[in-house]
Amino acid sequence: MMDAVRFLLNGEVVEARGVDPTRTLLEHLRGDLRRTGTKEGCAEGDCGSCTVLVGELDGQGGTAWRAVNSCIQFVPMLDGKAVITVEGLSGQNGAKDQPHPVQAAMVEHHGSQCGFCTPGIVMSLYARAIAAQGAGAPIEEVLAGNLCRCTGYGAILAAAEAIPSEAAPDVATALAPLQRTAMLGLEHDDAIAGITRRWFAPRSLAELAATYAEHPQAVIVAGATDIGLWVTKLRRPLAVLVDIGQVAELKTLTREGRSLRIGAGVRYVEALEALSVLYPDLGAVMRRLGSTQVRNSGTIGGNIANGSPIGDMPPALIAAGAQLVLRQGETQRTLPLEDFFITYGKQDRRAGEFVEAVLVPPPPPGALFKVFKLSKRFDQDISAVCGAFNIKVENEIVLGARIAFGGMAGTPGRASACEAALVGQAWNAATIDAAVAALAEDFTPLTDVRASAAYRALAAGNMLRKVFIESNRPGVATRVPLAATHG
Ligand SMILES: Cc1cc2nc3c(=O)[nH]c(=O)nc-3n(C[C@H](O)[C@H](O)[C@H](O)COP(=O)(O)OP(=O)(O)OC[C@H]3O[C@@H](n4cnc5c(N)ncnc54)[C@H](O)[C@@H]3O)c2cc1C
Ligand code: FES
Ligand code: FES
Repeated sequence: MMDAVRFLLNGEVVEARGVDPTRTLLEHLRGDLRRTGTKEGCAEGDCGSCTVLVGELDGQGGTAWRAVNSCIQFVPMLDGKAVITVEGLSGQNGAKDQPHPVQAAMVEHHGSQCGFCTPGIVMSLYARAIAAQGAGAPIEEVLAGNLCRCTGYGAILAAAEAIPSEAAPDVATALAPLQRTAMLGLEHDDAIAGITRRWFAPRSLAELAATYAEHPQAVIVAGATDIGLWVTKLRRPLAVLVDIGQVAELKTLTREGRSLRIGAGVRYVEALEALSVLYPDLGAVMRRLGSTQVRNSGTIGGNIANGSPIGDMPPALIAAGAQLVLRQGETQRTLPLEDFFITYGKQDRRAGEFVEAVLVPPPPPGALFKVFKLSKRFDQDISAVCGAFNIKVENEIVLGARIAFGGMAGTPGRASACEAALVGQAWNAATIDAAVAALAEDFTPLTDVRASAAYRALAAGNMLRKVFIESNRPGVATRVPLAATHG
């Protein structure tokens, strides 16, 4: 097993030996390597001031770059990858010691005031410039994960619009020698927690299955957009971690029968296009999930495995009829996704068993498929309620309904009574009223910081009414009793 992490930092090979495997890239950059250009704002993936670029071999002889929050990436996750920080920018276009065009545009358009957010904004805009090669992603989408408290976004947007696209740096030749086949295995004595921390990074599915079977108490790390916060915010003394980021078999998007098979290591950004083609409404919700940096790291497998009642993917995938593939050693089993979520904090996962993939079937021809995410902010916010509707209507009769919600109970789950009230009935306002009323049998939502129980119950029902209204049948909106809208 290899016991040192090697990565390219601004073009130079860095070797981290003896580092605590839960040390974040941001801590390593600032504390160990004294590259203090990258800033810490929140240490929880929210503000973007710590944004850096991470590059990997793209499998076609080039380098694929993505902007990530370095505050929630652990150092071993960088093994065999390349990192560009704000210090590395001036050399990127050959103009050493000159501001990079992104930096020059920020100066020109007065895009910086206190400057704290600026390195992160510069890196996000640089990521856009090298990905763009022309059109580019919408600037608002690229910057949704970069918070500026003082300049005002007008100046930053003006700077962003002035930035020309440029070729992405190709570091494939320098990266290739850092690739290895042996498992990364690190050990570190954490004197404060009184534990020896261990990090395993298996290189294949078989190696992962064997390692996890041997250490069933280990924490599996995928994108670390949840686990990063367990360390930086909750200070959880994690002892054994198994990183699935190097397992090629988990990173594939393939067809299995009619379904799309999404490996547990596939990041949101990598599945977005394929899922958007199948389910455009789900694609729209995914574009609001976290930020570009979060979607560039987080996985759909992690969103399912964490069992959160307010994760955005489970309601839509349950409504779609997705199946979950679990593996324990050599044994594989498949179950309907909704059956995975047993109760709050408990999933149907045996010791040493992990999520291998999720199978997403296409929608039935002619089905109405809608997903609504209700959160206090449009971007970068967790849902108060997320509702997903897969309803098949033919000749004005409901032939089938799969309806699922997040935020309405301790787990994401199906609205079975609501579905039963729809199926076989006429697709009309009276049926919708009955199905909305049936939601009270399905869920007893809680009041918390995101929403009150009454608000959640009302919002869930109104989502179903919206599906009906958007299917171009008038009459429902006027039937909502006024009192209910204020209840
Ligand atoms: C700023 C910010 C904004 C966010 N916004 C949203 C949002 O809008 N909507 C939303 O739904 N989520 C949001 N999240 C949460 C997060 O992005 C997701 O839950 C993410 O999908 C987790 O995936 P990951 O790969 O990062 O998982 P990790 O953090 O690596 O792991 C999460 C959990 O899943 C387990 N796990 C991961 N992979 C496997 C596997 N293959 N088998 C078994 N267990 C596994 C881990 O052990 C851990 O318990 C946000 C997070 C941040 C930091
Ligand atoms: S420090 Fe705020 S996102 Fe990393
Ligand atoms: S310039 Fe001060 S936070 Fe953005």
